[in-house]
Amino acid sequence: MQIIKNIEEMQALRGKMEGSVGFVPTMGALHQGHLTLIRQARAENDHVVVSVFVNPTQFLPGEDLEKYPRREEADRKICDLAGVDALFMPEIGAMYHDDEVKLKAPAYLGYILEGHRRPGHFDGVVQVVMKLFNLIRPTRAYFGKKDAQQLRILQKMVEDFFMSVEIVPVDTVREEDGLALSSRNVYLSPEERERALSISRSLKRASRLVMAGETDAEAIRLAMEDMMREIDVEYIAVVDRDFRPLERVKLKETIILVAARVGHTRLIDNIWI
Ligand code: PAJ
Repeated sequence: MQIIKNIEEMQALRGKMEGSVGFVPTMGALHQGHLTLIRQARAENDHVVVSVFVNPTQFLPGEDLEKYPRREEADRKICDLAGVDALFMPEIGAMYHDDEVKLKAPAYLGYILEGHRRPGHFDGVVQVVMKLFNLIRPTRAYFGKKDAQQLRILQKMVEDFFMSVEIVPVDTVREEDGLALSSRNVYLSPEERERALSISRSLKRASRLVMAGETDAEAIRLAMEDMMREIDVEYIAVVDRDFRPLERVKLKETIILVAARVGHTRLIDNIWI
């Protein structure tokens, strides 16, 4: 596996890659969720590139940029074992210049829910992913459904800018007890982790209610809220695939999303119905 830190080297290596290139962008502290994306990329492409870059422009002032977990050594090992061809780990100065041209996330999709709580977050995501796509020129790029709004915005970016990369959505990977894997789970104390389980449990309950015939979004929301009384829920949203709010759940067209704070840790999860 090649470890690449600078732009010119990445461009040169990409130039030599023939056939399809699968790309998995990450912020590191790799876990089983990331690994699932990498494995799928490995199975579907001639070459696999993974990036590890804690992107400063998608963190708001006061968020966890400085303390975001960094595990460079472990990340290298995981990628190497997974058969990654190139691990791209640039410094901030290589990725960003002074007084840059800036992309903006869509006015609606980029500023509701996550974007409402974290205004500007998705501007930083599109900025860095556009840079990474232009550098790596992937055939396919793999993103988790766990970050459903990010996934939709990046699909929109590709559509809106006529880009030729295929965005591949990958199902959320969970611990056995249901907790969605996240690099931020390392912040949770055992007691907080236990309380955090109510998030995935409430989503499971929502899905059971729908299977039993409940379609009223408000009734589902209330049932979920009831299960998450021990944590600080920021939002529960029942939306369609374009993130428009739904009053009635429609099968195969609905996403139910939760964001909550457990202690000082902010967690998100969702279920596609
Ligand atoms: P990061 O949080 O490291 O996530 C990298 C990718 O892994 C994303 O596509 C995310 O949705 C996926 N992922 C995380 N947890 C997952 C899980 N439990 N199951 C399945 N997939 C999971 O998302 C980012 O980084 C950044 O915003 C990035 C796109 C790299 C831009 O900086």
